[in-house]
Amino acid sequence: MTEDMDAKQILEWYILAGVEETSGNEPFAKVEAAPVVRVATSVLKPQAVSETRQATTALSQATQNACQNAREQCKNAKTLAELKQLVEIFDGCALKLTATNTVFGDGDENARIVFIGEAPGADEDRIGKPFVGRSGQLLDKMLSAAGLDRASCFITNILPWRPPGNRTPTDGEIAVCLPFLKRQISLIKPDYLFIMGGSAANAILDIQDSISRLRGHWLEYIDEDGRKIPALASFHPAYLLRNPGQKAKSWVDFLRLKQRLFEDENKK
Ligand code: URA
Repeated sequence: MTEDMDAKQILEWYILAGVEETSGNEPFAKVEAAPVVRVATSVLKPQAVSETRQATTALSQATQNACQNAREQCKNAKTLAELKQLVEIFDGCALKLTATNTVFGDGDENARIVFIGEAPGADEDRIGKPFVGRSGQLLDKMLSAAGLDRASCFITNILPWRPPGNRTPTDGEIAVCLPFLKRQISLIKPDYLFIMGGSAANAILDIQDSISRLRGHWLEYIDEDGRKIPALASFHPAYLLRNPGQKAKSWVDFLRLKQRLFEDENKK
C-alpha cells in the first residue's frame, strides 16, 4: 500500500488481504505491504511462465529468509521480555501490517503448563492479549473447573498477529512465526504443553493429522535444548463454541492433564 492510493484502492487492498471487519476508530491504517502478484500462468507465454516461476521462488525464498531471520533474532532473547520486544519489532510477517496489536504470550514465566492456541482473534487483536474473547472465556471456565489457575499458566499462540478476518494462517506465516513460539517454550521450560486445535498441534509437533485423531493422547515435543516435554492436544475453544456437543471430550482432556499433574507430583 502506498501514500497515493485512494480510499477505493485501499479498500480493495484490504479485501484482497481477507479483511472482513474493522476495529478501532481509524478506518484505514497507513501500512506498507509487499506487492501482491496475481497472474494466471495458463495465459502466459513460456518466457513469462518462467519469470512467474522465478517470482514464486523469490517469494518462497523471502519466506525462508524471514524464517532464518526469526531464528537468528530468537537466539538473542535471553528472557521473555527481550523476546517480546524482538517480536514487536520483527517485520518479516505481513500479518503485522493488518493487525492492531502484537499479541505475545501471557502468564507466569515459570509456568508448569503452556497452553497454545492458533492466532489472536478480533478481541485479542484489539486488547493485545491472548484468549480474552469468547474462546478465552470458555478456556477460563474449563481451567477453573479443572482446578487450574490461569495466572499460574502461560497462554500463547502459534502466531502473534491476527490473520485478517480470522482466516486460516498460511504455512509460510506459521513457519515464520514458529521460532518465536519455540523460544517462548525454551525460556519457560514447562513440564507440559496443552495444545488447542489442529493447526497449532500440527505446527508445533511438526506432524500432519486431524485433531480428532490427535486429541486425548500424550504426545511429545522436543524443545531446542533437546528436552522432551509431554504434550496433550485437544479441541480449540472456538470449535467447542460452534460444536458444544464436543465439550465433553475436551473436558476429558483437561481431566487427563490434571491427573498427569497429580501423578507426577506424587512420584516426587
Ligand atoms: N483463538 C486463538 O487461537 N487464540 C486466541 O488468542 C484467541 C482465539
